[in-house]
Amino acid sequence: MISHVLESTYQRYAAKRPVSKRLHMDARSVLPSGTTRSVLDFDPFPFTVASAAGCLLTDVDGHEYLDYLGDYSVGLAGHNPQAVRQAVAAVLDDGWSFGTVAAEEAEVARMLCERFDSLDLVRFTSSGTEANLVAISLALKWSGREKVLVFDGGYHGGFLSFSRGRPSLNVPVDAVLCDYNDLDSVRAAFDQWPEQIGCVLVEPMLGSGGRIQSVPGFLAGLRKICDEQGAVLVFDEVQTSRMSYGGAQGLLGVHPDLTTMGKYLGGGFGFGVVGGAERILLQIARGQQPSYDHSGTFNNNRFSVSASAAMLKSVLTRESLDALFQRGEQLRGQADAQLREYGFQATGWGSLIGIHPTDIPVARTSDLADADRRPIELLFHELLDRGIYTGKSGFVTLSLPQTPETDARFLEALESSLQVVARACR
Ligand SMILES: Cc1ncc(COP(=O)(O)O)c(C=O)c1O
Repeated sequence: MISHVLESTYQRYAAKRPVSKRLHMDARSVLPSGTTRSVLDFDPFPFTVASAAGCLLTDVDGHEYLDYLGDYSVGLAGHNPQAVRQAVAAVLDDGWSFGTVAAEEAEVARMLCERFDSLDLVRFTSSGTEANLVAISLALKWSGREKVLVFDGGYHGGFLSFSRGRPSLNVPVDAVLCDYNDLDSVRAAFDQWPEQIGCVLVEPMLGSGGRIQSVPGFLAGLRKICDEQGAVLVFDEVQTSRMSYGGAQGLLGVHPDLTTMGKYLGGGFGFGVVGGAERILLQIARGQQPSYDHSGTFNNNRFSVSASAAMLKSVLTRESLDALFQRGEQLRGQADAQLREYGFQATGWGSLIGIHPTDIPVARTSDLADADRRPIELLFHELLDRGIYTGKSGFVTLSLPQTPETDARFLEALESSLQVVARACR
C-alpha cells in the first residue's frame, strides 16, 4: 500500500513543480543524478529554490516553504542574516583573495579560543571534511600510530563516512569501527590493536547517523580511555558546536585534544576549523621539529572568515545559542509526544532533531537498520505538501528566525501528515 501511495505522491509533487522538473531534467545531462550533493537527491527530483529570506524558501514554481532543514545545520542564522550581509558587503568593497593574510583571521581564532576551553590554537580549512582530515593527520603524526577509531554511523565528511553497509567515497583511512555509546567495544579495539590506535574521532551526538545523542558517561569514558592508551581524542563538533557558547564539550564538561567545526560558523560560506592543544597544533608551525606544511588556497577565504567573524560577534551570542537549545528541547519533546502516538519517535539534542519510524530505544545507528524508511519518505513529502521543508531522512534543524508560531505550524503539519502516513501503512 505505501509504495502505491508514494508513487502517487511523486506524481502530485511533479505536477505542482513543472519548472523545477524541467531544470532537473536539464541538470541530469551534466550532473550525476542532477545534483552535486547526494544528500539533496530525493524522488522524484529536488525542487529548485529561487530565493530565501529568514526561515522562508521560495521555489521556482512559486511555492513557499518554512525551512526546517536549515541546510543540515549551516543555516543556523537563517537566510541572508543582516550581520553576514554587512560583512560580505565590506569584503566586496575592500577586496578578497589577497594571497596574504587579513586581520579577521586572528580575530576569529581568538574568539573561538575564548569560547572553547580546549582550544589553544586553531587552523582554518574550506570545509568540515578538510578540518577532520587535518585533525586525523595531526593526531596520527603526534601519536606515531596508524589506526583511527571511529563509530558506526559516524559522518565526518564526504570522504570520511563510516557506516556498516553504506558505501562511501572514503579516503583510505586505517579505520577501526566501534559501536556508538558502547565503551566495551572501544576497550576491546584497544586490546586487539595495542599501541596502534592513534586517534579516536567521535561526534558528541551522531549527526547524519540519525541524530542520536551520546549516553551519559560515554564521552567522558572515551576521554579516560584515550588518556590511558596514549591516543588523541578528537571531537567532531561540526554539528554540535551549536549546543552552547562553548559547544557540546562546554555543556558536557568533557574536553577533547582536538576539535573540528564548520557549517553554520561560516555564515553560509564554506568553512572549517580544526583546533586544540598547542602541543599538537604546533606540528604545523614553521620552525618546529618536526614540522609539517598544511596549505589550502581557500583556508583564509575572506568571505568565509569575515562572515564567521560577524557570526561570532553578533549572531552566536550566549543568549541566542541557549534560547535555540531550549526551543529545540521543547519542540523535540512536543514532536516526540505526537510521533509516539503513531509508533514513531524523535531523537536528538537541542536544536538538532531526528524523526524515526520506530519506537524502540535508539542508542546507535544499527538500532535503526531494520526500520522501513518509506514512512519517513512519505512523511517528508506530506510535510512538504503542507509547506514545511525538512530533511528527506527525517532531520529537523532549527534556526534563529523561526518563532513559536512557526513551530506551532510545524507541529500542526506534523500531526496531519502523520495521519496520512498511518493510513498508508495500514
Ligand atoms: C559531523 C560532521 N562532520 C563533518 C561534516 C563535513 O562537513 P563539510 O560538509 O563542510 O565538509 C559534516 C557535514 O555534514 C558533519 O555533519
